[in-house]
Amino acid sequence: MSLDPNLTRAALATLAARPSASLGHFPTPIDRFDRLAAALGIRQRLFAKRDDAITFGFGGNKVRKLRYVIPDLVASGVDTVITCGGVQSNHARATAAAAASAGMACHLVVNGVEPTVPTANALLCRHLGATFEYVADRSERKPAMERAADRFREAGRHPAIVPLGASTPIGALGYVAAIGEMLAQGVHPDVIVHAGSSGGTSAGLLAGVALHRLETRVISISADDPPAAVIAEVRAIVGGLGPLLGLEGATLVDAIRPEVDDTFVGTGYGHPTDASTRALAAAARTEGVFVDHTYSAKALAGLLAYCQDGRISTDATVLFWHTGGQVALFA
Ligand SMILES: Cc1ncc(COP(=O)(O)O)c(C=O)c1O
Repeated sequence: MSLDPNLTRAALATLAARPSASLGHFPTPIDRFDRLAAALGIRQRLFAKRDDAITFGFGGNKVRKLRYVIPDLVASGVDTVITCGGVQSNHARATAAAAASAGMACHLVVNGVEPTVPTANALLCRHLGATFEYVADRSERKPAMERAADRFREAGRHPAIVPLGASTPIGALGYVAAIGEMLAQGVHPDVIVHAGSSGGTSAGLLAGVALHRLETRVISISADDPPAAVIAEVRAIVGGLGPLLGLEGATLVDAIRPEVDDTFVGTGYGHPTDASTRALAAAARTEGVFVDHTYSAKALAGLLAYCQDGRISTDATVLFWHTGGQVALFA
């Protein structure tokens, strides 16, 4: 269902008036991937939105979310950010960088085993001055963050928890704004394909598409969870995002059309697949662009499969939204 243009104009004006942290230089480039398309016999017009090339903190999709999250924390007097992720979390690295740039401390609750020799994101988080605590599995992250917040409060600090992936309604505003950024660059894709996990990127892109009254499909290639779980999360985030822009949450939720595909995960989160290995090599060898096995290589593999087997029509303009993750190649 398409939204009333008066409502969408007002919502986009509300977003434009909202404070955002600079965190790098925007817009990120949009490149043609003609050599990749030609090498793989793909007839669709293929573009890439290069959020891997965000200049701040080694970039990636979390930076766009933190541009909206950080000013909100600063306005609330927060001095310590607590968040969570795996040992090689891109989100942890981006949050530690954003906290550092705002003069805040960052405490990370990490599921996994403390590395004896930290590499890649784990190493960068140390350079950024974050502190760490380790828990055995994902289910322990939330209670551990809450306990950490209590400890910081008792010590007289002003902590705030940034949920996994900064996938909150405020964080998702970053990807609502990103759709406007893309349109201002003159690219109007029929289909956007991106890597998804905690739902914030999808929620923002889908809400952005609805608010700009586009017909663009947004396909999230899941890095882990099944479609029903991701879509429930996306709807919850969009339901909270609407009121931030002066809309009824339900009105915006009714206007989005989430598509989530978990058939490219393979044997599990972060495990390479044959298709992700081929996508990684093809992007590097035709375009000099790096994608990672956990997220962006699986998303690119999905995009290529959809283009080759007709799930995306050959006359479509397709945009691969590169969400970053290349730091993990050094793990
Ligand atoms: C490189 C990369 N791409 C995609 C995602 C998924 O984004 P989201 O959590 O917003 O669904 C993440 C984080 O989980 C990521 O680090």
